[in-house]
Amino acid sequence: MTAPQARRRQLIAAAVLSGFALVACSKKEDTAAAPAASAPAATARVYTVGTDAAYAPFESQNEKGEIVGFDIDVVRAVAGKAGIEVKFVNTPWEGIFNALNQGDRDVLVSSITITDARKQTMDFSSPYFDAVQLIAVKTNSKVAKLDDLKALKIGVQTGTTGDEAVTKLQGKNSPNIKRFESTPLALKELEAGGVDAVVADNGVVINYVANNAGSKFKTVSDPTFAPEQYGLAVKKGNADLLAKLNKGIADIKSDGTYDAIYKKYFGTSGGAAAPAASAASK
Ligand code: ARG
Repeated sequence: MTAPQARRRQLIAAAVLSGFALVACSKKEDTAAAPAASAPAATARVYTVGTDAAYAPFESQNEKGEIVGFDIDVVRAVAGKAGIEVKFVNTPWEGIFNALNQGDRDVLVSSITITDARKQTMDFSSPYFDAVQLIAVKTNSKVAKLDDLKALKIGVQTGTTGDEAVTKLQGKNSPNIKRFESTPLALKELEAGGVDAVVADNGVVINYVANNAGSKFKTVSDPTFAPEQYGLAVKKGNADLLAKLNKGIADIKSDGTYDAIYKKYFGTSGGAAAPAASAASK
């Protein structure tokens, strides 16, 4: 070490020491003057997200019992952008909107179609997915359009937009509408021959047909089904949380995260669901 170097070290050491003394001093004063300044940050709140996890590929339970799917990945990414923590709780569709209203869930993600009727009792985020109803029938069925279902037995999940579409077609008191707790149960009934068709969201029907070749189903699309969009739901008036979620949705759409999740589940990137009437139709 040269002489100037050694000298510099000494100076630095002295400066550090006196600085330390100064800090120590002023700290004492600070503590006395403002005792609240160092209060620990409140523990982050965890938002409970309800989902009816019998709706692959949007939400389902894997072999380990974990809730997984497109909707789950979307909400995790949205929460990341919004800087909030979330935990998912399997919540049967039947009671899902009540759970939100009663405050047992903070957010719902469940391939929930934004409808005017639902907007009366809950608030929706900006849309994050486009969908439409799709008909599933046995491969040998003659059904070619929605109208062909007028006098047939149809299975739907209770209280879904599929239920609404079929109710509109056959009338409220039709004995030919069989309502099920979940969409997979309705599809099982189609396989068993208890109903002639199932009407449900296209993404779920396409996924089921693709993964259950043994069921011998085909899909039939119909242009008269109204376009639908999925949104995240929060309790009516929860503007603060809704703003966070909307910002998160905008962020994941603009930075490519949404497209990557879409691609992971649907093979293509983009805003629309997989083609409705596919090769599986014929
Ligand atoms: N999109 C339809 C609706 O909102 C069906 C949603 C059902 N979702 C579910 N996870 N079971 O009515």
